[in-house]
Amino acid sequence: MPTLRDIMCAGLKRLQEQGIESVALDAEARDILRNWSAQPASTVAAPRASGSELDTPEQKIDYLRRRALNWSAARRLGTLREKMVFSVGDVHARLVLVGEAPGYDEERLGEPFVGKAGQKLNEILRAMGLRREQIYITNICKFRPSMGDNQGTANRAPTPEEIAACLPIVRAELRAIHPACVVCLGATAAHGLLGGEGSVGSLRGVWHYLADNLPVRVTYHPSYLLRNESLSARRSVWEDMLAVMEMLELPISEKQRGYFSPR
Ligand code: URA
Repeated sequence: MPTLRDIMCAGLKRLQEQGIESVALDAEARDILRNWSAQPASTVAAPRASGSELDTPEQKIDYLRRRALNWSAARRLGTLREKMVFSVGDVHARLVLVGEAPGYDEERLGEPFVGKAGQKLNEILRAMGLRREQIYITNICKFRPSMGDNQGTANRAPTPEEIAACLPIVRAELRAIHPACVVCLGATAAHGLLGGEGSVGSLRGVWHYLADNLPVRVTYHPSYLLRNESLSARRSVWEDMLAVMEMLELPISEKQRGYFSPR
């Protein structure tokens, strides 16, 4: 027979999977949690098989990848496609990039940013002196948003509900990787991670900070650069990346500083 604590944990877990991260507790609930946390750690029902299983970033990310496969908060919406596309890169990276959602190519190959936008992203990383294997790349939504039976290669941005459903996973990824900074690629990722609204133009150019003081930079999505090849668009993204390089204390040559400057 489940104890009151079991019932409470199941309820809290359900809320967490829906993206709800804080709840008001009455005195009885607070007492249960207080007694529970006073017990030895070995009796605490943690979301893992054994106490030492999730010590490293590799283990934590692998665990999250498995959880994401059957993430009920996302599945129950019925608006996302079947295949889950998680992340790629180094789980020890100091830089995390957060995109929007997998598209046709990403769903086919099971990896974020492998289509045209991914090629543009690789170019940006090369200009920074980085390779994608050296950083961690993920999406704010782990499933390609559905557009019905005849979707073909068409993609759409995830809705706020779809983003909210996946957000607990993304936040857990950031806690596991513990990077020095994060870049949101595009407004969708920025709104999901930082909350609020606003265009990329109004959000970029400054550091934002998550609750744990993790610095976040917002820049244009690489697909924006595919549509707008102007020098000023490329310079804007580049200036954001120069700020990221400074934050990461990466070497920056004079030549790099001048990329995409008007002559
Ligand atoms: N665009 C994104 O935002 N993410 C991907 O993985 C691919 C394209």
